[in-house]
Amino acid sequence: MAAKICTFICAAAFAGCAVAGGYKTAGIVEISTNDTSLLVSYTEDKIPHFEYFGKKIKSPKYFEGNQSVTQSDVGEEAPLYSERGGKNFLEPAIEVIHPDGDLNTELRFAGAEKSVSADGNVETTIVRLADKKEKFFVNLRFKAFRKENVISESAEIVNGGDADMKLRKFVSGYFCIRGRKYFLTHINGNWANEARVSEAELTRGITAIQSRKLVRTTLSENPAFMLSLDTPRNEESGEVIAGALAWSGNYKLEFEFDEFGHLNIIGGILPCEYILKKGEKFDTPELILTYSPDGAGRATRNLHDWARNYGVYAGKSPRPLLLNCWEGVTFNVNEPVMREIMDDASKLGAELFVMDDGWFGVKYPRDDERAGLGDWQVNPKKLPNGLAGLADYAASKGMKFGVWIEPEMVNPQSELANTHPDWIVGFPGRDKPQIRNQWLLDLSNPKVQDFIFGVFDGVLKSSPNISYIKWDANRHLESVGSAYIAQNEQERFYIDYVRGLYNVYARIRAKYPNVVLQACASGGGRIDYGALKYNDEVWGSDNTNPFDRLFIQYGETLFYPVKAIGAHISKTPCRNFTTSMKFRADVAMMCRLGIEMRPSDLTDDETADLKRAVETYKKIRDVVCEGDMYRLVSPYDNRNFAATAYVSKDKTRAVAFIFCINDKTTTDRPYFKIGGLDADKKYKVEEINCPSKLSPQSGKVLSGEYLMNRGVNPRFRTGALSAVFELTEVK
Ligand code: GLA
Repeated sequence: MAAKICTFICAAAFAGCAVAGGYKTAGIVEISTNDTSLLVSYTEDKIPHFEYFGKKIKSPKYFEGNQSVTQSDVGEEAPLYSERGGKNFLEPAIEVIHPDGDLNTELRFAGAEKSVSADGNVETTIVRLADKKEKFFVNLRFKAFRKENVISESAEIVNGGDADMKLRKFVSGYFCIRGRKYFLTHINGNWANEARVSEAELTRGITAIQSRKLVRTTLSENPAFMLSLDTPRNEESGEVIAGALAWSGNYKLEFEFDEFGHLNIIGGILPCEYILKKGEKFDTPELILTYSPDGAGRATRNLHDWARNYGVYAGKSPRPLLLNCWEGVTFNVNEPVMREIMDDASKLGAELFVMDDGWFGVKYPRDDERAGLGDWQVNPKKLPNGLAGLADYAASKGMKFGVWIEPEMVNPQSELANTHPDWIVGFPGRDKPQIRNQWLLDLSNPKVQDFIFGVFDGVLKSSPNISYIKWDANRHLESVGSAYIAQNEQERFYIDYVRGLYNVYARIRAKYPNVVLQACASGGGRIDYGALKYNDEVWGSDNTNPFDRLFIQYGETLFYPVKAIGAHISKTPCRNFTTSMKFRADVAMMCRLGIEMRPSDLTDDETADLKRAVETYKKIRDVVCEGDMYRLVSPYDNRNFAATAYVSKDKTRAVAFIFCINDKTTTDRPYFKIGGLDADKKYKVEEINCPSKLSPQSGKVLSGEYLMNRGVNPRFRTGALSAVFELTEVK
């Protein structure tokens, strides 16, 4: 996209006299979206400060007329990019050791430049900072996405000197927020239990969320957060800042409630030693932030809008409705069974069939999780006509074909492990622990990158009818070591692994721009905006129990858009909840719908329910995937209900999903207020995806005002029920 470049200097407009006992603000750099401002200031001595982030301040003139802002003796003004050195004692954004052993850095404002995208929506501001003593520079890059009200920050760190130096900490973004109290919301969990919501008021000191797992980091702690200022998180009111780091490896997000009462958000790659060679530049990932003056709902909608427009690969394209065979047959893949499932999938209305694990490995067949990973040749005993035979069959049924791979991993029982032991992560003389009987390949090594690209390329080349890849990663990393990286630089492995992964993704995207790519990592282990830049979607969780999924999807969609989260209807028994196929379908329809089973396991009634759900979803998919999401009732609020609505951007259509999540009989008959409608419009209310309607409101025409204030009543008479209402404007 062509960019219009303009350079500006704003110091002159604000120059004035010095202030006794302090420093006078000499200039402001304004970074703004339609409703948000981020202000950077600097003193006459060029000391840069993080001045403000919040609701838009429309005119920079508030600084005219020699209004001085003084810097106190104890350094209470927020640094722009907190450095170790100078007057600063706050937690650093950057910690370096200069070539002469000097631990200090004193960054000074050295100019700012702006450029605007061709469509005018994205303004990039580079704030240049230079160390007072060394030839060391930090260029902060702020991108303001105007209509989405999102601002991202990343740093380019430059060693302009003539000797190598050490980086110890080098974050993406530093934001100073000023409130009275701060409430932190984040999502964390475990395998099959992702994205549980944690909320707490922050105490003084530093609270951190982080991962050291390198791979599948987000199974446990996701690099995203919400901060509610002064009052606990509320959907419709209060100041909320939501953010996420676009990085798929080790990270740390710190929240420093400092002695001045400010909250400093310090987010980036987990600190480690990195030798920055002379003349070298280091680029950090982006930290993405949005500000909402009207509660958490709007913060989420801002992030969803941004993600669809910029943050997720092919974010604007429709997603296919797929059937994946994993929960139906696990490793028991063979041609007759795959054909049987494809026959049934096409009858159900699926648009794509995905063959999961188990199709490869010749010398070491992949019959279970103990062997075959790394040997990406089709097992001819299972699939005599290869991938092409199945992909062509899918095409004959009017469906696309998808394939599961896990190319970063290797089983000890594989030809690859025998031929390339030097490609396996681990240090000589140390244990090389296995998880799920597998080791990790060293993606910092370009030869391994070529191999992984080759795995992908090989699958895609086998048939033009393959249009989807599920890319799995079923272990994390504890014990580290790279035969490729120099002994004195081993710590950079944590960074080079992720860079290697992104290199491969980028090569794939250059060659296969239209293939749909799913990031799976034992379920939701790679749900982050670093991976989503290259992936169309993620697999939300290996847990398809709809009761659990209500919580998992609630957590994930706080930060990530519904169209990028795979949610599949399964037949897998639920331990803690009795549930119908309709209930399962209604839960899965709130994200990117899929099916995960062997359909021949269904009863006739279940098949009919599933078919109806597929037909229903195809009619409402655009509202769910492209609309604005309104959380009506949280499954966490103990009221035995959960409800979410999706409203089309023009407010002419909406869909509300309502669940009674207590499986006992209930006498509660609450009304559910539908957020986001147009009060002046009239809507036809229709209960959909059901053989018989529960609500007497179905079929009625009601005003937006009524629906937003009184709401709909599904009249649940027993527990474990669900209702879906479609609202369509009538003129
Ligand atoms: C992981 C994935 C599952 C499935 C299996 C296959 O657990 O999350 O969806 O693909 O691997 O082994």
